[in-house]
Amino acid sequence: MKIVVRIVQFLFAAVFIFSGLAKCVDPAGTSIKVTEYLQYFGFGMLTDLSMGIAWLLCIVEFICGVNILLGHARHLTLVVSTLLLLLFTPLTLWLALTDAISECGCFGDAVHLTNWQTFGKNLILIVMLALLWTKSELMYRLMGRTFYVFYSYCALGLAVWLCWMGSWREPFIDFRPFTPGTNLKEAVMGEGQEQTTDSDSEWVCIYQRNGVRQEFSLDSLPDEAEGWEFVETIERHADGKVSDDRSKAEPKHIDFFVKTADGEVITDELLSRPGYTLLLLSHSLDKASQHDIDRIELLSEYAGDNDYGFLCLTARDEKQLERWKFNTGAEYPFVFTDASIIETMCRSNPAVMLLRDGVICWKTPLSRLDAEGLTSGKLNEQTSGDIEEINYHNRILLVLFLLFAPFFLFLLVEIVQFLHKQTLINNSKKMRKKIVAGNWKMNTTLQEGIALAEGLKEALAGKKVNCDVVVCTPFISVASVVKAVEGSVIGVGAEDCSAHEKGAYTGEVAANMIASTGAKYVILGHSERRQYHGENNELLVAKLQQALANGLTPIFCVGEVKEERVNGTYKEVIEGQMEALYTLSAEDFAKCVVAYEPVWAIGTGLTATSEQAEEVHAFIRASIAKKYDAAVADNTSILYGGSCKGSNAPELFAQPDIDGGLIGGAALKVDTFMPIIEAWK
Ligand code: 13P
Repeated sequence: MKIVVRIVQFLFAAVFIFSGLAKCVDPAGTSIKVTEYLQYFGFGMLTDLSMGIAWLLCIVEFICGVNILLGHARHLTLVVSTLLLLLFTPLTLWLALTDAISECGCFGDAVHLTNWQTFGKNLILIVMLALLWTKSELMYRLMGRTFYVFYSYCALGLAVWLCWMGSWREPFIDFRPFTPGTNLKEAVMGEGQEQTTDSDSEWVCIYQRNGVRQEFSLDSLPDEAEGWEFVETIERHADGKVSDDRSKAEPKHIDFFVKTADGEVITDELLSRPGYTLLLLSHSLDKASQHDIDRIELLSEYAGDNDYGFLCLTARDEKQLERWKFNTGAEYPFVFTDASIIETMCRSNPAVMLLRDGVICWKTPLSRLDAEGLTSGKLNEQTSGDIEEINYHNRILLVLFLLFAPFFLFLLVEIVQFLHKQTLINNSKKMRKKIVAGNWKMNTTLQEGIALAEGLKEALAGKKVNCDVVVCTPFISVASVVKAVEGSVIGVGAEDCSAHEKGAYTGEVAANMIASTGAKYVILGHSERRQYHGENNELLVAKLQQALANGLTPIFCVGEVKEERVNGTYKEVIEGQMEALYTLSAEDFAKCVVAYEPVWAIGTGLTATSEQAEEVHAFIRASIAKKYDAAVADNTSILYGGSCKGSNAPELFAQPDIDGGLIGGAALKVDTFMPIIEAWK
């Protein structure tokens, strides 16, 4: 399951990152789509906000992708991704059903999907998202929090920079057909063909309205104000078929036509004009910025002096044209095409494009045109009249570099840090004894105990054992078990000892009696003794002193009950229990082993997670360091106890501060005890 969730996590992230970036490089294109949606749904008054909405959409989508990739800010990111999908999936279904807008634009101009394809893609994303919601805890966290914060700022910076570049210039990476170097004449008409209206074939435009497509001849195009949306141009033969030649020229074919005010198609004439032609482009004269209007004058004069063609190519709208002429005093000629074609040619409004023999040399927003350079003859990339070289492949590589370089850099630093920490941990872990100790509790008769000890001895014989193995048995068995395991690596201990040295304490067993059997360990302060026999720190201090005075190694147990874990007081409780040990000198303390046994995990099958256990172990070690010093803390073995089994021991023992286990139920059978010992590889 984990692997499935992680594959889904990375695929989902890849789609969001790609679609976010594809739109970030061309926010103007995204804003055109946003405008289309707003107008269609009757929110035309909000179209001034469409550029802001475009920025927000693509940046949010990109950052969601980055967060999912890194597995951080999961809840918020999943909420935002869900909202995006809940908004766009019904929208794309509606688009697919009605064909009201020809393309949703979810990957900008980088990848064109039909509305049904987009809807299918969104459904797959929803299924992926549902899995991420239900199994978000299994998502991979690729970086620590600090590096995540750094990286998300880098990613945000990249997205904002791309949007900025694309908003005030042409798209940083341009996936549209009108790039410098494009031979428009060939791409529009196919080699050796003419786009005319008087042959046996006819160039027609496909428009759609309310999902209905209709063909219009070039001299009777419909009014966009009436809701018609331009789709493409095609060459229709007299027999009704679409030209084969045109479909052969397909990948290069560009939708483009130019007409005069009289409706005469002059595409061929314009693109066949030898030499230079300057085109002033405006998809909407009413919306064109009038800041740099004086540059147009300079340009048209320059064109006249140097025998350049100079035309303003705009969408046909008589009122707008009159207003423009009135406001700017324009005397240059106007020709017409569809607004969406002009928006595809150049995102800014107005813009200037230079053609040489039908080939695009460069295009630029009017505001960025070096008009003075052009008219004074100073050469630069615009004024030299050469084809501007924009290497989009290099730009794609740059974006990928900016996206992945900090990512891999941070990841590398983090891996180095992790390895360094691991080495430190391993070194300090090496100094401590690793121990797996069994606590048989009140479960074995003398014979059963001897048989269990012999079985364990046999299982361990000849094996390389990487930890100390101890069995703590009921008093009745201690002496016999010591004998039974003679000659093996197994150490033996008791489960308790008296707080008194000797005397009239009927039923008690003194530490020196335990030591006299050859046993070396004694468990003290086990939660069951605290619970059923009311053992407290005062008593335990006396027991500790007896054990140490008789050369026994105390395995001193601490641990909280469930309520203390739930109400968050567990650390104070454990610190309080440790006080009994802290009455010892550093020298005596160094002879003890600590066992953390959360009471709620003992015999319940509920193991503390390795993170929960490690948290407390690290806390205990830090507390020892505070009481004594770091060296004493580093040398103290701290064992974990509570439903420890062969299946969870490796993960628990891999924690930096867990040095072994104190095992109850699983220590009663050789078969279940051995895998825990073997967890120390
Ligand atoms: P279990 O391993 O049976 O949970 O018991 C743990 C324990 O109390 C060891 O002292």
